[in-house]
Amino acid sequence: MISTGLSDYRMEGQVCMVTGASSGIGKEIALGLARLGATIVLVCRDAGRGQAALAEIQRSSGNNSLDLLLADLSSQKQIRKLAKDFRQKYRALHVLVNNAGIVTQTRCLSEDGIEIMFAVNYLAYFLLSNLLLDVLKASAPSRIVNITSSIHKSVRLDFSNLQGEKRFNKNLIYAQNKLADVIFTYELARRLENTGVTVTCACPGATATRIWEPSSRFMDTLFKTFMKEPAEGARIPLYLATSPELEGVTCRYYQTRQHLKRSRVNPANAAARSSRETYDKDIAKRLWQLSEELTGLSNTTI
Ligand SMILES: NC(=O)c1ccc[n+]([C@@H]2O[C@H](COP(=O)([O-])OP(=O)(O)OC[C@H]3O[C@@H](n4cnc5c(N)ncnc54)[C@H](OP(=O)(O)O)[C@@H]3O)[C@@H](O)[C@H]2O)c1
Repeated sequence: MISTGLSDYRMEGQVCMVTGASSGIGKEIALGLARLGATIVLVCRDAGRGQAALAEIQRSSGNNSLDLLLADLSSQKQIRKLAKDFRQKYRALHVLVNNAGIVTQTRCLSEDGIEIMFAVNYLAYFLLSNLLLDVLKASAPSRIVNITSSIHKSVRLDFSNLQGEKRFNKNLIYAQNKLADVIFTYELARRLENTGVTVTCACPGATATRIWEPSSRFMDTLFKTFMKEPAEGARIPLYLATSPELEGVTCRYYQTRQHLKRSRVNPANAAARSSRETYDKDIAKRLWQLSEELTGLSNTTI
């Protein structure tokens, strides 16, 4: 069982949404929240994988307050429908975990004409969070947790190549997506000051999940030897989503300093500095403005 160090803490009556809950870290985050008794809305793009995850989480947690909403998060139309479907069923949202992520081998465009990794790994976090902000505010205290990666420290944001327009290299684009997630986290947190909605982000650490597939046999062996299990990767995100001691804590980045498989993560010691660029408010404003344009959310008033 995943422990956030809060064995007697319960979340009955709280509504949590986890994107990318069909596998890997997202499934473990959903399981951890389900074990605390919260109502969990799993967001998945594939009905079969979503149902399978829901059944597994139900079995392991004994929690029957689980729901599945389907959305391909590379599609803005489907993200808007997801937000609408959610509102029709729920009046509150206490925790939103933007976790869904993807790595593609080649440059592919979404139905909106946006490079897929940028669309799923960053723009979907921006759009879904904004579309659900009023529910989150009305449910305050509430939290948004964005899943990023320490790999963001290896790059700078190149506005002329955010979608691999000039040069597509999956590692570079992925790192830029994750950098955008941190910049977005801080900007949203600033905009939500004094609303009771906090925004934080976490790097789960190198975790053996499907995101790294397809990989070579050599990489498989490397992963299995050194990478964490998904339950371990979910530890810091779960801490951010649930810990009472983080009530009111916002605009922060967390990452594990323990990168090896067998080392235990202590989330309470995981607050860290992100890259220098993430603290640049001008870059954050520019990214926000571009994201508004790309999603048609130009009248966001928060
Ligand atoms: N694994 C690591 O070492 C690592 C390190 C740092 C950060 N992260 C971050 O952790 C997060 C979770 O990744 P993971 O490692 O757990 O990988 P994973 O096992 O591949 O899980 C990714 C999840 O995102 C979903 N997803 C992908 N594209 C989607 C789309 N278009 N619409 C809706 N859902 C979509 C996947 O759904 P399907 O089941 O349908 O594919 C899956 O549920 C990502 O944000 C990733 O960047 C991972």
